[in-house]
Amino acid sequence: MSESLIEKINRLKTQRNAVILAHNYQPAEIQDAADFCGDSLGLSIKAAQTDAQVIVFCGVKFMAETAAILSPQKTVLLPDKFAGCPLADTITAEQLSGLKQKYPDAVVVCYVNSSAEVKAQSDYCCTSSNAVEVVSSIPQDKKIVFVPDQHLGRFVSEKTGRDLVLWPGYCHVHVAITEADIKSAKAKYPDAIVLAHPECTEPVKKLSDQLLSTGQMLDFVDKSTAKHFIVATEIGMIHPLKKQNPQAEFLPASDRALCPNMKKITLEKVAWSLEDMQYKITIPQEIRIKAKKAIDKMVEILPSKVGKD
Ligand code: 13P
Ligand code: SF4
Repeated sequence: MSESLIEKINRLKTQRNAVILAHNYQPAEIQDAADFCGDSLGLSIKAAQTDAQVIVFCGVKFMAETAAILSPQKTVLLPDKFAGCPLADTITAEQLSGLKQKYPDAVVVCYVNSSAEVKAQSDYCCTSSNAVEVVSSIPQDKKIVFVPDQHLGRFVSEKTGRDLVLWPGYCHVHVAITEADIKSAKAKYPDAIVLAHPECTEPVKKLSDQLLSTGQMLDFVDKSTAKHFIVATEIGMIHPLKKQNPQAEFLPASDRALCPNMKKITLEKVAWSLEDMQYKITIPQEIRIKAKKAIDKMVEILPSKVGKD
């Protein structure tokens, strides 16, 4: 009998001493084949902690880059080199450099959804799960430039009371979820709890009960006794939520909230990636060291969360 695709992946994984990491938005079959699933911060920590020599990163480029920044001695593979993040691409290193010239005394905080070059020019990195804590740790008298997601930035500004200089970047997937989507989902499930990602627009966030990263959504639902949830984020998130909580019902706020870049990863590409050891993510040493400083500063603020599984 010929070898199945999953058998082939498992055989190659052993041969290469590899692990497969998958983001919560990945296609269901990729999440099911992965060794670990999680949000962007959780997966980078897993990448740094694993003893495996090869990491197949099923996600988008900035996530694989973050793993490579934290684990330079390991080989990080992205199964599709075109799996990018349009939000991360809304700001280049040159544009950030221009912004820094305009606000020379400001502290720069970049969302993890950014290139390694942008991270290298930032003082702090943050994720959607810790952006509020990172910004709160910066002295009150400091001006703060926050890039690139304006919607996460506004959420942080509201939570911390800080006046941030925002970059007009946004995630096309999350802004596709509208106020009308939430209202019609609520009409179907009036008792449902609305979970939204902070990348959503402000009117959507106003109608939501909880603003959470994808990892925080899983934690929240795990502790909740509610039966119905409206999920305002990328639709791939429904799979891990259902898997973890088969007794609850999850309604995607919008079927349009689909990230085409996340769906570029397939099982065939994962097998090929392990076979040909492609595409290797490498970061020039000078950029890597500077970018790591910004990530380390975030990690210093959150020691209790980083050691956690
Ligand atoms: P999380 O860090 O919450 O998983 O989000 C990543 C992302 O790309 C959101 O669109
Ligand atoms: Fe980027 Fe948006 Fe896709 Fe997340 S959902 S990877 S922010 S484009």
